[in-house]
Amino acid sequence: MADISIFVGSVYGNAQHVAEQAQQKLEEHGLEVDVFTDPDIDNFTNANAVVAISSTTGQGDLPPNVELFVSDLRDTFPLMNGKPFAVAALGDSSYGDTYCGGGRQFFELFTELQGSAVADMLEIDACETLEPEEEVVPWLEGLIPALTKA
Ligand SMILES: Cc1cc2nc3c(=O)[nH]c(=O)nc-3n(C[C@H](O)[C@H](O)[C@H](O)COP(=O)(O)O)c2cc1C
Repeated sequence: MADISIFVGSVYGNAQHVAEQAQQKLEEHGLEVDVFTDPDIDNFTNANAVVAISSTTGQGDLPPNVELFVSDLRDTFPLMNGKPFAVAALGDSSYGDTYCGGGRQFFELFTELQGSAVADMLEIDACETLEPEEEVVPWLEGLIPALTKA
């Protein structure tokens, strides 16, 4: 089983690119890392540590590739029992109130499922950051001890 499972919500590929860069870097640390772009509940319940990297679309909405996954999680409500998680949200502050809404949905859901947040949600603003992986990857590297401590 992978040490860290990364769940990706992405419309145009930015978040997916970030996840792939993160996977590569975390694997350089000797970790086994899975990246899921079409995840199901089993991928989630089998994870040792959960990372979501998600953009936002519409008005604070989740990307379509994770809509079914998230609605299945809400329906079946598989408790995480303190499993560590982290969420990186890619958004655009020009959208105002819905800024990083997709990532926020993940963070709130994992909290409701009684996961253990190892850090506050990381917000990446497309207005300020052209290369989101340059912020997300080192942030995740810093979280390795907390994500893998079990
Ligand atoms: C149609 C559309 C709607 C968007 N809506 C939001 C939004 O409500 N809130 C937000 O923070 N960002 C919003 N964004 C910005 C994206 O989340 C951001 O550009 C992100 O980097 C895209 O990553 P992706 O390629 O992985 O989907 C929107 C972008 C588009 C094109």
